[in-house]
Amino acid sequence: MKSNSELIFQRAKKVIPGGIYGHVAPAAGLPDCFPHYCKKASGYTFEDVDGKEWIDFMCGFGAILHGYSNVEIERAATIQREMGTVFNQPSEVMVELAEILVQKIDFADWAVFAKNGSDLTTWAIRVAREKTKRKYIIKAKGAYHGVDSWCDPGLGGRIPSDRQEILEFNWNDPDHLSSLFKKFPNQIAAVILTPYHHPSFQRSELPIAGFWEKVSATCNKEEAFLILDDVRAGGRLHDGGSHRFFNFTPDLAVYSKGLGNGYAISACVGKAEHKLASAEVFLTGSCWNDAVAMAAAISSLKISEREGVAKQVLSKGKYFCDQLESVAKKQNFPLTMTGPSSMPYPFIEGDSNLFKIQEFCRLCAKEGLYFHPHHNWFISNAHTFESIDNSILKASLAIDNLSRKSNLV
Ligand SMILES: Cc1ncc(COP(=O)(O)O)c(C=O)c1O
Repeated sequence: MKSNSELIFQRAKKVIPGGIYGHVAPAAGLPDCFPHYCKKASGYTFEDVDGKEWIDFMCGFGAILHGYSNVEIERAATIQREMGTVFNQPSEVMVELAEILVQKIDFADWAVFAKNGSDLTTWAIRVAREKTKRKYIIKAKGAYHGVDSWCDPGLGGRIPSDRQEILEFNWNDPDHLSSLFKKFPNQIAAVILTPYHHPSFQRSELPIAGFWEKVSATCNKEEAFLILDDVRAGGRLHDGGSHRFFNFTPDLAVYSKGLGNGYAISACVGKAEHKLASAEVFLTGSCWNDAVAMAAAISSLKISEREGVAKQVLSKGKYFCDQLESVAKKQNFPLTMTGPSSMPYPFIEGDSNLFKIQEFCRLCAKEGLYFHPHHNWFISNAHTFESIDNSILKASLAIDNLSRKSNLV
């Protein structure tokens, strides 16, 4: 008998291209026992459309920082929803949210809002081009900055000119970066980077000592913007922005995941000296003034500050990663958790075709653990140490099962 997930997917294929698109499409290498559709979620768990309960380590791909359906945030959203969502004009909550970000993020003098990370990574590079009157943008090879044609990972619908002014350098190689500035003197508008490197299908890489210092010095010297894409890591490394965790200062920074705890919102903040240029780059969207998402973001930021959420998720993540690596080691399973502990990426030694990680995640899924084989995982502040202990126990059973298949371990 077909599961509800499969039945819904069959319906979806008739009316939605591919049924499910993007990185959760079934073709994206997810183990076959993963559900296609969710029904509801609360705290650190969700229920799929077949009634199975999962302990979740993806947090809506990072959008959920305080746990699903956080009571305080939902209350703030409800109060605003009763007054209205999208009006002709922005509402006061937009100003309040900008004031909070300017107060919270040390280098920020202004803030603008949109719905998705991509809206504002693309806008940010336009601000850099407007101010510098230069055309080239440098990014790190393999870095994801969104769905727009200058940076999306797909090939569909792309024309060669989309990437004509986009240059790439190898992460953690500041000399490579400098060589691009030499090759294109006075032509580079901005360097856009994530706070650490988290390419899909590969282990995450933290910046090496001196990396950010050198990148900042090069951008300063060359009068190019340093844009921090903090869409994924924002709120999970430092409550004041991930640049504080790695000790550098960008010109602009973009946030989205985690900002509204599941309500669609993104923000770009910037230095005072870029305020005029930013006002020249047109920015709007049908529902971008959505006051409910802004009220949710205000509530989410207040919780982050009050409860020191970035530190909490880092410490829960460290406990989780240490325990998982330790049970793996005992079972001779060469698993390493890479990247920061609040958003770790699992790497298995010798797993060049990624079959082992897929099999591990498939066996964990059987135990009700939602671990993604090719994307970094996310810890939320709703995860408790008990829930982590429980998850480690389940993961250990999965590793045990895996060990029996001697060809895989
Ligand atoms: C680092 C980074 N930048 C930009 C984006 C794009 O954000 P969105 O999917 O909200 O457009 C993402 C999304 O995963 C991301 O991880």
